[in-house]
Amino acid sequence: MNKQWWMDEIVYQIYPKSFHDSNHDGIGDIPGIIEKLDYLKDLGVTMLWICPVYNSPMDDNGYDISDYEDIYPAFGTMDDMNKLFEKAQEKGIKIIMDLVINHTSDEHPWFQEALANPDSPYRQYYIFKEGKNGNPPTNWRSVFGGSVWQKVPNEDNMYYFHAFSKKQPDLNWENPQMRHDIYEMINRWFDKGISGFRVDAINFIKKDQRFEDGIPDGADGLVSCFDYCRNIQGIDKFYDELKKETFAKHDCMTVSEAVGVGYDRIDECIGDKGCFTMMFDFNYTNIDVINEDYFRPTNWTIKEYRDAIYLSQEEIQKIGWSAPFLENHDQPRSINKLIKDPQYYQLGAKTLATMFLMLRGTPFIYQGQELGMLNFHRQSVEEFDDLNAHSQYHRAIEEGFDEKQALAFLNQRSRDNARTPMPWNKEQYGGFSTHQPWIEMTDGYETFNAQDQITDPDSILEYYKRLINIRKNQYHDILTYGEFISLPLNDHIVSYIRAYENKKIAILCNLSSSNQTYELDNIDHVICNNIHDYTPGLLKPYQALILYLKK
Ligand code: NOJ
Repeated sequence: MNKQWWMDEIVYQIYPKSFHDSNHDGIGDIPGIIEKLDYLKDLGVTMLWICPVYNSPMDDNGYDISDYEDIYPAFGTMDDMNKLFEKAQEKGIKIIMDLVINHTSDEHPWFQEALANPDSPYRQYYIFKEGKNGNPPTNWRSVFGGSVWQKVPNEDNMYYFHAFSKKQPDLNWENPQMRHDIYEMINRWFDKGISGFRVDAINFIKKDQRFEDGIPDGADGLVSCFDYCRNIQGIDKFYDELKKETFAKHDCMTVSEAVGVGYDRIDECIGDKGCFTMMFDFNYTNIDVINEDYFRPTNWTIKEYRDAIYLSQEEIQKIGWSAPFLENHDQPRSINKLIKDPQYYQLGAKTLATMFLMLRGTPFIYQGQELGMLNFHRQSVEEFDDLNAHSQYHRAIEEGFDEKQALAFLNQRSRDNARTPMPWNKEQYGGFSTHQPWIEMTDGYETFNAQDQITDPDSILEYYKRLINIRKNQYHDILTYGEFISLPLNDHIVSYIRAYENKKIAILCNLSSSNQTYELDNIDHVICNNIHDYTPGLLKPYQALILYLKK
């Protein structure tokens, strides 16, 4: 692949509601991000992905947009946003926004008009259908539980489609006028000087136009909508037009959220023909659950995880560029997910960081990950904010689990785990705010916060800085442009090589809590080690090494 500027970026994802609250109302905001730009610069990141800040009723924390060109008041104003662009640019930090164009909020004026007037052209901006024999048009289950169809008030037998919550009606991508309006909105954001977009749920924009029932797969009598509205054949036509009308007109970076895309179809997303410059691959991210249901945990092994990473890297490398990540706002904390032995959580955070930050692709770090933040432990379902947590709890009970088990699934897997406020210091509410935050803090910020880690050379934060420096500066070409080569040494070690010109670096990460041996006879020197011991051929529990190899 030709070198591109976006291969060099180290991205940091900000969930604005929980990052930093500058006006002390308990909700993070844009001026709060501006106040923390020096922290981000010091960490070494070069780009921010800002989760949705657009105006929204916040049913799904901003992924339900009621105005694409205004800012949610609790986050600030468009002037604040412009100031953020300016201040970030002064520090050499680029910004990408979240682009949510599979659906809008039901409070978006287009949808309000579509509801108010069945003859309005906006009716065709969404998917309305008549029910069948007193039932909704199909038996598909929405991502957040319940039918994908919501009855239209005051109309007989009429429904609208929503793949996510009922407050997130899907846009009708079959309608060229709707697509045109969306493209214009996207281009106006580019005119403001942003560097690109993270593109939300984009592989949902094409629906199976047959709208036929499927075979029920759950106790609710419904069938997952994934096979009917995700990665549907023919979606590439929409991708091609979206690219031509928007992204191709700008020198931008775009990353698609493309859950469930098979490797045989990633050329629709990335590479010369694809719509985006890079993609998030969830095939190994969701290794711990089946079909994204929290109540269907798997017994994954380190070998399976390693092989899934190998496959992802190798397949994406054939076509284009990836965007490796360990965490995001839809995932639990990676330490709880991937480190099987709690006594190694602290060290394991460094192991995971080493494993993921050296992969081929533009790395994305999620806020708090650089501190080694952990999941919380809630006592009851009422303490959860996320609508998906409530739906998963309800479905777990429906599937036969008891309340205690259902709660345990949420504590392990809920998206709220990653959405608690950043612990900046040991003060009340972790210095996030002086006001009770919108969501309860994760316990332990008194001893576990950014301020303490900045002054501790052995901290997870300082280790992240070291890794970023290795990737971005010290061994930039090998770790950025280098080929990915899998190196299966031992089933408990995730190990691989990055090779560029005739230089090679090996990355070895022991993901187990026992000593592991390996054979590698061409080691030149150690670039990085997450503990203080080094014995060639041996990895202590959760030890991670970056090794420069002889030619
Ligand atoms: C994916 C986003 O990351 C998630 O937070 C959201 O709930 C859905 N898409 C719907 O927009």
